[in-house]
Amino acid sequence: MNRRNFLMSAVALAAGATALAADASATPEKPAAKPAEKPAPGKTALVAYYSWSGNTRALARHVADALGADLLEIRPKTPYPNDYGRCVAQAKAEIAKGLRPEIEPLPDLSRYTLVVVGSPNWWGTLAPPVSAFVADPALAGKRMALFQTHGGGGMQRLERDFRAQAKGTVVGRALAVAGTRAAGAKEEAARWAATLR
Ligand SMILES: Cc1cc2nc3c(=O)[nH]c(=O)nc-3n(C[C@H](O)[C@H](O)[C@H](O)COP(=O)(O)O)c2cc1C
Repeated sequence: MNRRNFLMSAVALAAGATALAADASATPEKPAAKPAEKPAPGKTALVAYYSWSGNTRALARHVADALGADLLEIRPKTPYPNDYGRCVAQAKAEIAKGLRPEIEPLPDLSRYTLVVVGSPNWWGTLAPPVSAFVADPALAGKRMALFQTHGGGGMQRLERDFRAQAKGTVVGRALAVAGTRAAGAKEEAARWAATLR
C-alpha cells in the first residue's frame, strides 16, 4: 500500500468507526452479501514487442487492438544507441555471439494463454531483446506467435529462429510487414490476428 492509499484507508476506518458508534443501538443486520460479480478475469492474450524506431510498436498496437490483448514493451536494461550506425554495429556483434541482453523485469505472465511477439528484423533474425524474452521459462506451455517488421528483407530467418527459441508452442504462420507500411497495416494485422484465435 502506498502512502496515499494508506492514508485513505485510515480515513475510511475512522469514518466507519464513527458510523458504528452512532448506530450502536440498531438491530445488527446480516453482513452485507458479497457482490455477485467476480472481478473481471483480465485479458488472456498478450502482445509483447521490442521496437527501436517505432515500426514494430505501431504494428503491435494494431495486433493488440484486434485481439483485445494487453500490450507489453520489451525493454533492454541498457538501451541500444540512438545512432543508427552504432546500433547496427552493436546488433551485428551481439547476434554473431548469440548474446541475449538483460531485459527489464517482466510482469506476471501466468494468466496469458496466447503470447504474440513482435520484433524488428535485425540482421535477418530476431532482435536480441526479443530472443531474451521468448526464451523465458514463464512462457512454457503457452501458445505463441510472431510478427515482424523489416526494411525490405522480408521474413528471412525470423520465423525459423522464433520456432527454435520460443519456450511456448508456436501457432500459425509468422507475419512480416515492411516497416514503412506498419502504421497503415491495421487491416492486415487484424486479418492475421484472426488466424491465431
Ligand atoms: C540493427 C538493425 C538491423 C537491421 N537489419 C535488417 C535486416 O537484416 N533486414 C531488413 O530487412 N531490415 C533490417 N533492418 C531494418 C528494420 O528491420 C526495419 O526498419 C524495422 O521496421 C525497424 O523496426 P522498429 O522501428 O520497430 O525498430 C535493420 C535495422 C536495424 C536498426
